Amino acid sequence: MSEFELLFDYPLLAHNTFGFDVRAKYAVRLTEEAQIPALARDTRIEGVSRLVLGGGSNVVLTRNFDGVALLVELRGRHVIGEDHDAVFVEAGAGENWHEFVAWTLSQGLPGLENLALIPGTVGAAPIQNIGAYGLEMGERFERLRAIELSTGETREFDRDACAFGYRDSFFKREGRGRFVIVSVTFRLPKAWTPRADYADIARVLETSGANDPQAIFDAVVAVRQAKLPDWRVLGNAGSFFKNPVVSATAFGALKAREPEVVSYKQPDGQFKLAAGWLIDRCGWKGRAIGAAAVHDRQALVLVNRGGASGAQILELADAIKRDVHARFAIELEAEPVCL
Ligand code: EPU
Repeated sequence: MSEFELLFDYPLLAHNTFGFDVRAKYAVRLTEEAQIPALARDTRIEGVSRLVLGGGSNVVLTRNFDGVALLVELRGRHVIGEDHDAVFVEAGAGENWHEFVAWTLSQGLPGLENLALIPGTVGAAPIQNIGAYGLEMGERFERLRAIELSTGETREFDRDACAFGYRDSFFKREGRGRFVIVSVTFRLPKAWTPRADYADIARVLETSGANDPQAIFDAVVAVRQAKLPDWRVLGNAGSFFKNPVVSATAFGALKAREPEVVSYKQPDGQFKLAAGWLIDRCGWKGRAIGAAAVHDRQALVLVNRGGASGAQILELADAIKRDVHARFAIELEAEPVCL
C-alpha cells in the first residue's frame, strides 16, 4: 500500500524528547516503505520542506515547523544471515533502539549491550553514530537502506558510504535532510569480547562479579539511570555538546593551567576533553535560565524543567559556550540538530 494520510497542524510535543510544544504544518506517519516514493510525487506538498523524525531524541525544535514532519514508524527485526565471523541482524528504522538491543540479547546475539538505554530509534542511530561506554554503533554496522526524498529512489549505504565519525556521519553533513533511512543491518561478531574498560561500568561489574553480555547491559542501564535524566520525566536530548578534540600542544597548555582537566588521548595523538567537566568547572551544573537548565548530575545534559522553549535552551547553550570559551579558549559544538 503506497497511500498515506496527510495530517495538518500536527502537534510534535510527543515527538521530541525535550518536550517542546511546537507544531508541524503537515505530518505523515510512515508505516510502509512504499509511502516514501509516493510522497515525492504528491503535488499537495511539492516544494515543501521535510523533517524526518524518529524518536526526536537528537533535535531541538525552536519553532513551529512550516513543512511536512515525516514520522518514521517502520517496524520489523530479523536475523537475516551469517558468515564465518558474524551474524547479521536487520531492523526497521522505526524500532525503538533500546528494545532492539534487548531483543538481540534475548536471541543470544551480544555485541550491542554497551549501547543499552540510548533513547531514539534504530534509524536515527547511524545519523549521529551513537556511542557510549567504549563502543560506537559504527563498529557493529553492516549497511543501511535509505530512500531519497526528492526522487523516491532506494539506495544502499555500506560503512564507508556512511563515513562515520565521532557523533557524525554522511547523514549529518552532505546527506543532511535528503534521505529517510528505512532499515539498518548490524554485524554482530560470533566471538564476543566484553568492552568493560569504562571506569563507571568496570566499577558496577566489580560489585556484581559478573562479566557476561547481560551483566554489561545491566551495568550500562544502572550507570545511565544514575547519571542521565529520563526524558519522560525531565525533557532532554542527551549530551548537548560533543566532547571537543584538541591538539597535543593545545592540551599541554591547558593541562599546565588546569591540572585536573579530564581528557582521553586519541589514537592520532590529539586529546578529547570531557565537555561536562569544562561546563561543570565554569559553575554551570544545576543552573538555569527560566525553565531551561543544566542537569544537576551531568553538566553536559541540558533539560527542560517544564514549559521551556527551544529558543530558551539555545540561549542557555550560548551562555555556556561563551563561558567555556572565555575560560578555556575552547569552542563547544552542539550535538543535536537545531531547527
Ligand atoms: N564530568 C564532570 N562533571 C559533569 C559531567 C562530567 O566532572 O558534570 C566528568 C566526569 O567525572 C568524567 C568525565 O567528565 O570524568 C566524563 O563524564 P561521563 O563519563 O559522564 O561521560 P561524557 O564524556 O560526559 C560521553 C558521551 C555520552 C556517553 C558517555 C559514556 C558525548 C558527547 N557524550 O559523555 O553520550 O553516554 O560518554 O560513554 O560523547 C550522548 O551522546 O547523548 C551521550 C549521553
